Amino acid sequence: MSEPTQPVHTTHTVGRTRVLTGAKPTSDLHVGNYFGAIRPAIEASHNPSNEVILMCVDWHGLTDRSKILEPGKYTAAVLATYLTMGFSLENNMIILQSEIPEIPEIAWYLSCVSAVGLLERAHAYKDALSSGKEPTAGLFNYPILMASDIVTFDAQVVPVGKDQSQHLEYASDMVRLFNNAVGRPVLFEPKPLIQSTPLLIGVDGERKMSKSYGNHVPLFAPKKDIEKRIKEIKTDSKGLDDPKDPETCAVFQILKSFGSAEAIEYMEQRLRTGTGYGYGHAKKDLIDEHERVFGSKRELYEHYINNPRELAQKLEPGHTRARQIAATVRQRVRDALNLGIL
Ligand code: ADP
Ligand code: TRP
Repeated sequence: MSEPTQPVHTTHTVGRTRVLTGAKPTSDLHVGNYFGAIRPAIEASHNPSNEVILMCVDWHGLTDRSKILEPGKYTAAVLATYLTMGFSLENNMIILQSEIPEIPEIAWYLSCVSAVGLLERAHAYKDALSSGKEPTAGLFNYPILMASDIVTFDAQVVPVGKDQSQHLEYASDMVRLFNNAVGRPVLFEPKPLIQSTPLLIGVDGERKMSKSYGNHVPLFAPKKDIEKRIKEIKTDSKGLDDPKDPETCAVFQILKSFGSAEAIEYMEQRLRTGTGYGYGHAKKDLIDEHERVFGSKRELYEHYINNPRELAQKLEPGHTRARQIAATVRQRVRDALNLGIL
């Protein structure tokens, strides 16, 4: 009989796939984040064959010394956004990484089987070096912490953007190194699900929407700020009655990332036909749709931000379940390493 390659005793719920993903609380969230990360996680939480663990990875946000106070500031905003926009907490969990002390413990075990050379080849570390920054040891160890997030919860599927594929390869490498070192399959090897979502363009019409380029449309800012931002969207010089190409129109692309099917179809048609529908009209329609989708939830969002205790209470059952899973996996790992007195 061949040796099993995955642990026999896992923490999985029969009939459900454990899906885990994470987002750093390092900025106010924008429409690009919603499209690329938030909406997919929310959709996954409504599929009953999934058990989704959505982590707000605040420890991962601490790796830059000059921005070490940022994650603490944005944590509530990230958690409140997920809840406000409809993540289903029924049989799923939204958890704050720094509430789970087993993660850094298991990260330590992973670091003891990982070669320094592996970490030296990590993109984020190499990028920091080549841009003349002095990387912290936290940044260097970042891939180990991420692998630990995954294995601490026996995650089976990990959906991430293309930029994270190296981190997932590393997580698999670390699982294999660990299981080989202890001589049996103790850690679960996750399956990456690399999303092919194209990046949403920013209001400059040139680069991807990103807080660091200042070309983003926020989700929950005051209405006048949203209007101002949308009016800034760069367009070409086509006139009121000229047919316009939705594919190259940033106003349409931004609408497409969050709007209803009807709103999308309406704008697409009107742009293509052209007659009597200029970019000013399109921007007005985008503002209205933003207000309908996000503005209508602004009050609930602000309620959570202003009542962090209520927010924490809503997430508590998920934290309790997550702690149970983490404690089980931790014990399995310690047993495999023969740690402890008894
Ligand atoms: P930013 O570039 O604004 O700092 P982050 O790098 O913190 O955003 O992104 C968090 C997540 O949001 C990413 O993992 C990615 O999946 C998603 N994301 C960010 N910007 C975009 C975008 N323009 N289009 C699609 N997804 C995006
Ligand atoms: N490194 C990921 C990013 O920058 C965030 C992350 C941390 C993550 N831990 C994770 C993603 C675990 C998926 C699973 O986007």
